[in-house]
Amino acid sequence: MSTGLFAGLLFDLAGLKNFEILECSNRVGGRVLTKYFSDVKEDKLYGEYGAMRLPKSKCDNCHGQSGSTCDNCHGHHRNSHGHQMVFDTICYLNKINKYAEDYRIDLINFIFTDAEENGRYFYNNKRDESCNIMTQKYADENFDALGFPQTVSKDYRKLYEDALSQFFDELDKDIRFGIKKLMEYDGYSVYSYLKEIYLPGKIPKEDIEETIAAMEMTESATGLFRLAFTEAVMDGYTFLHKNQEWKTIKYGMQRFPDAFKPTLEEKYIKYNRKVFKLKNEGNKVRVYWEGDDNGQIYDEVIVTCPLGVVRQWELPDELDKCSEKDYIKRRAIRELNYDNSAKIFLKFKSRFWERGERSIVGGNSSTDLPIRTVIYPSYYVGDSTDKQAILLGSYTWANDAAKYAPYSQKENVKLCLKNLKTLHPEANLDEEWCDVDPEHGDSSIYWPNEPTTVGAFALFGPSQYTNLLYKMLKDSNSNIHWAGEHTDIHHAWIIGALNSAVRVVKEVLYRTNNVNLWNNLLNSDAGKELLCNCEWLKCDDIVKEK
Ligand code: PHE
Repeated sequence: MSTGLFAGLLFDLAGLKNFEILECSNRVGGRVLTKYFSDVKEDKLYGEYGAMRLPKSKCDNCHGQSGSTCDNCHGHHRNSHGHQMVFDTICYLNKINKYAEDYRIDLINFIFTDAEENGRYFYNNKRDESCNIMTQKYADENFDALGFPQTVSKDYRKLYEDALSQFFDELDKDIRFGIKKLMEYDGYSVYSYLKEIYLPGKIPKEDIEETIAAMEMTESATGLFRLAFTEAVMDGYTFLHKNQEWKTIKYGMQRFPDAFKPTLEEKYIKYNRKVFKLKNEGNKVRVYWEGDDNGQIYDEVIVTCPLGVVRQWELPDELDKCSEKDYIKRRAIRELNYDNSAKIFLKFKSRFWERGERSIVGGNSSTDLPIRTVIYPSYYVGDSTDKQAILLGSYTWANDAAKYAPYSQKENVKLCLKNLKTLHPEANLDEEWCDVDPEHGDSSIYWPNEPTTVGAFALFGPSQYTNLLYKMLKDSNSNIHWAGEHTDIHHAWIIGALNSAVRVVKEVLYRTNNVNLWNNLLNSDAGKELLCNCEWLKCDDIVKEK
């Protein structure tokens, strides 16, 4: 998700120039991956296989009116819930790429909820009183129509939101303290926290389990409640945050990593370096990649790959020693949990969903059918609805995603279309649907099957932050450094990747006696612009060695 690129940019700005970025593929960006179904960018026939939306807080002071920095708050947007550095980076990249049109990043709105609130809501096979598919609003106002058993509390959605949001104020006020406080509950799964801590006393004991099941069904994904409660809170901290808007990048998120290329490509990026082995050599590390038997020696190595990839590598002796630190690192590489995610894109002759009485522009539909979530594209706003368009017909996580895994692309598209017909009986989908250009191949992705990621994004189980990740990051004696979204508190977001890059750049500069370069970076104009809202810098003592 661009960890390596951001670290590279920071090293370059700090004045440390003797490094290489080993990119395993022939493209930068990792899980920032736009799939283009047409070579003509103006056709907008693309889908976001990876990251697709950027949460942007409206600052309490400037109410979102300013760009990256706001004079009223002296560069420190209040209430930024952590993601501001992504926008600061985009601003910076646009500035340095001012004369390179191809690399310009234009932010456009990502419509999270459609303005008319017509996104369909279809659970338990229930329809509204006119036999139409419901909307979420209708369901909220007519709980009984939803068809849940008697033992599901009618306030189940609010209860879930409240369980998470109790932690938001502390996180807003002081991220360092907020995280420490949250970590007191790291040992709980979402399920055990709700069952043992939160719900008792609030609803009758005999209603607890069905209520939790309903929460997982409509507010999360199948099987996710067995994972850490801390993850659900952080998830909610981004998704439920008040006072925010959502953005995406015009013509595709891929333009974000690509915008680093004018600065980094020629000097530092080595493509097609598929690493398979690290070896200690004296106090250095030799890195091997496919097609080169000798490998290359480095003083310091930053590993940004997902741990499912690292798991298959031959690892250095360092990690094989019997010390507790090495034991923990080996456990972390094997155990830290990654979530599944699948996305299925369909091409239609027109944007049928934007027409008719219950038209939907942007936003989503939500269902317990296998497709679970439909995301209606925001990037056609203003274009004629008669033009061909790409729809994210199914976005799934966890067990919902895994259930697509055994079937072919064709079969999954067929199922997706069938479910879409249920949600949109008003449209003639057989007539509207068109196969994606076979020349351009697949139109779906199941992230656990990708050899470069082996999973979608980190989503830890109970105690994994406390017992594994934070301990793994603590070792300042090693010249192998761990970065990537999985090493930050914001899993599954670009900001997690960027935060982790800041952490390792500091780590490496400190270890190599280049503290002055780190300070130069912090004091430079570029450094200030990029890092003034970096929340990680406020809480790095969480993993400092005691
Ligand atoms: N960031 C991704 C999204 O927008 C994935 C994600 C999944 C983030 C689960 C948090 C939790 O959907």
